Amino acid sequence: MRKGLTSYGDEGFSLFLRKAFIKAMGYSGDALDRPIIGIANTYSGFNPCHRTAPEVAEAIRRGVTMAGGLAIDFPTISLHESFAWPTSMFYRNLMAMDTEEMLRALPVDAVVMIGGCDKTVPAQLMAAASSNVPTLITVTGPMMTGDYKGERLGACTDCRRLWGLHRAGEIGEAEIDEIGGRLMPTAGTCMVMGTASTMALMTEALGMMLPGGAAIPAVHADRLRHAEASGARAVEMAAEGLTPDKIMTPQAFANALRILLAIGGSTNGLIHMTAVAGRLGIEVDLDAFDEMGRETPVLVDLKPSGAGYMEDLQKAGGLTTILREIRDLLHLDAPTCTGHTLGQNIDKAPADWDQKVVRKRDNPVYKEGGIAVLRGNLCPGGSAIIKQSGADEALMKHTGRAVVFDSLEDMANRIDDPDLDVRPDDVLVLRNAGPKGAPGMPESGYIPIPKKLAQQGVRDLVRISDARMSGTAFGSVALHVCPEAAIGGPLALVRDGDSITLDVPNRRLNLDVSEEELEKRRAAWTPPTLDWAERGYPRLHMQHVQQADEGCDLDFLTKRPFTAKTPI
Ligand code: FES
Repeated sequence: MRKGLTSYGDEGFSLFLRKAFIKAMGYSGDALDRPIIGIANTYSGFNPCHRTAPEVAEAIRRGVTMAGGLAIDFPTISLHESFAWPTSMFYRNLMAMDTEEMLRALPVDAVVMIGGCDKTVPAQLMAAASSNVPTLITVTGPMMTGDYKGERLGACTDCRRLWGLHRAGEIGEAEIDEIGGRLMPTAGTCMVMGTASTMALMTEALGMMLPGGAAIPAVHADRLRHAEASGARAVEMAAEGLTPDKIMTPQAFANALRILLAIGGSTNGLIHMTAVAGRLGIEVDLDAFDEMGRETPVLVDLKPSGAGYMEDLQKAGGLTTILREIRDLLHLDAPTCTGHTLGQNIDKAPADWDQKVVRKRDNPVYKEGGIAVLRGNLCPGGSAIIKQSGADEALMKHTGRAVVFDSLEDMANRIDDPDLDVRPDDVLVLRNAGPKGAPGMPESGYIPIPKKLAQQGVRDLVRISDARMSGTAFGSVALHVCPEAAIGGPLALVRDGDSITLDVPNRRLNLDVSEEELEKRRAAWTPPTLDWAERGYPRLHMQHVQQADEGCDLDFLTKRPFTAKTPI
């Protein structure tokens, strides 16, 4: 109760007043003398992924009490993908700031955060890194799968696949409406290997979540037992002074990034971990990450790269089974929230059993890591990435004619135009959809297949964008092109009919136009107007958001100069 006293110029009075006020909550003196464990409660009526947050909070509270602490929950911003205009990414940094400042303002000795939906866990890790209050992350956990006419369905890979069939005219209005009611049958997060699942697994690998917590379905009783254990452990962490900087080391980030590759995880995982590491002065080395990818196969057979769902991964032993399979590639001596190293945690976990979800190294889902880093004259001084494990192998070396969409609005207006000049071997380009351009870098990089091509049976073609893509999506899409078009990146200079070459084996993304011609175009280029954000948080975002390869954090929140690199 003494931590961070409100300033009245008299410390004794400040403490007296604080205790007097909190007694109105009904606490006894004995309760208030115990370690205070905050619960960052992200329940929101607009966040179905967090529907179970109240019962998770209750289980955390039980664990804290059993261990001799006092649990006090507090609300923070809660972000859901479908309820955050213009896009949830726009608010990730705001949620991180909110959570960080509450941790600074409140007298908590440790905190358990309830994350889940895509942007919540990254925001919480960023807050933990910057506040350095002992922190455990829990998640609400993935949904169970749905079904339709005997077919197993999962959000949101199947949402996109079935919507694609609807666009192609193969599924009618009434049927797609009925399917919409069957895709999300329970509370919880998207149950494919989307961003929520990716971030939960990376957080456990990072050491910031108790072992076994990433994949437990939201509605399973084990979810509550994990929350209870987290509450109890947080009391111990407060006593031990086990702060996030002692856990989130370059080695720990390397472990998390290795898991991102081995699970065929969401491309968003890379942006988010870059932002979290940046909060601690650790730079993510994209070339080293790409090298790591060449020796790390995708082992987890989950959609969108594979076939299964998160409940299948849980039945296969969850993250521990994956860690065991790539044990020799991990930093086993990395400290974790348990007080033991990652290697010790693996040794303590139940022995594994025969299962088919986590493949053996000699029988991978994809021979390399899920994500490749691209360089070339479309991203000079920066990069682009592609989720190669979710792409069409035949398109991984491809040269085609550019069909350019200047903005999200332009794309929406023309993509289904029967007169659109587009062929199956073209390269679709969407620009001005980056961190500043859109703004907030929405998940619109998954450019829909133009209707006229979809109706011809085309299911994939090369697409390039400075936007992001949902982790649940799939396709041959080069994303996160930076510098983005809105600040003058070469993507702004592409014209319809230009030749573009994507060469994933050689990690190249090139606009096949001479430097001389590009210079001419650059001289004639007019930057888009970016001053729509005159006030408040939008203004802060527009003035300070960084590019994708820097994690899209606000520049003044990244700890510079960097003092370490990861992966190592
Ligand atoms: Fe929340 Fe997918 S919308 S995890």
